[in-house]
Amino acid sequence: MNPIEIRNLVKSYGHLIAVNNLSFDVREGEIYGLLGPNGAGKTTTLKVLMGLLDPDSGTVNVFGISSVSDPIEVKKRVGYVPEEQLLYNSLTSREILEFVASIRGLDYFHAKNRVTEMARALDFTSHYNKPIVTLSQGNKQKAMLLIAMLHAPDLLILDEPFSGLDVRTTRIMKDVIRIHTEKGGSVLLSTHIMEMAEGLCDRVGIIDEGVLVAEGTLEELRDQAESEGATLENVFLKLTGEEEEVREGVDALREALDN
Ligand SMILES: Nc1ncnc2c1ncn2[C@@H]1O[C@H](COP(=O)(O)OP(=O)(O)OP(=O)(O)O)[C@@H](O)[C@H]1O
Ligand SMILES: [Mg+2]
Repeated sequence: MNPIEIRNLVKSYGHLIAVNNLSFDVREGEIYGLLGPNGAGKTTTLKVLMGLLDPDSGTVNVFGISSVSDPIEVKKRVGYVPEEQLLYNSLTSREILEFVASIRGLDYFHAKNRVTEMARALDFTSHYNKPIVTLSQGNKQKAMLLIAMLHAPDLLILDEPFSGLDVRTTRIMKDVIRIHTEKGGSVLLSTHIMEMAEGLCDRVGIIDEGVLVAEGTLEELRDQAESEGATLENVFLKLTGEEEEVREGVDALREALDN
């Protein structure tokens, strides 16, 4: 049984079909990158997986558990870092972690040891007792990650985990993701950063207007795009049909800057 199995997922907002008959799996021990332009349906897909949105149709299973009928069981197995940072500004990270540990019914002593070690690894210890409102974007992101990993989940679902991170924190985040899979965990992440997907993901799925337009290893995607030796960025632009638009945009920009 795969950590994630999505079959024929459809999700609309009114007349807008945000996710259109999407199917893909995330296999055990792999890092799967969901790539796609703004508004492609990545966040919507991740929210359906977490049971935060009900799909119109299709099945969405996490370790064989339905995200639709059993979202609480799904949440026990998953560490989720959402796109927007949802943190109580007036609390400290420690207070939030204690709160989350209690609502998750975790043995606090065990959870605390785990978090203290992780905070050290993330170079976060000195921020642990500061109110969230005083933290920088990157440190808030670290706090979100600590919260997501508090219950030692088997699967991480990370929505744009690298946004706003500096070089060092990006590196730490990548290491956390890699170590998680080395220990047998699995990861589904969404990202716009092609180099990140290229260097980190075992497989990627490219989604455009809610439709999966390509999937595979970078090598397989190059074959599909018939772009031997191309970067993932070029493959992405070709498969989403944006190559021409980007070229026209750059030409127009060049002209505008000449005037
Ligand atoms: N709550 C909502 N109500 C109405 N439309 C929505 C809502 N949330 C998302 N949408 C629309 O659904 C589509 C998919 O949005 P989604 O946030 O899933 O895209 P995304 O791939 O995560 O984009 P980004 O890369 O910008 O984060 C977009 O057209 C978006 O405007
Ligand atoms: Mg998004």
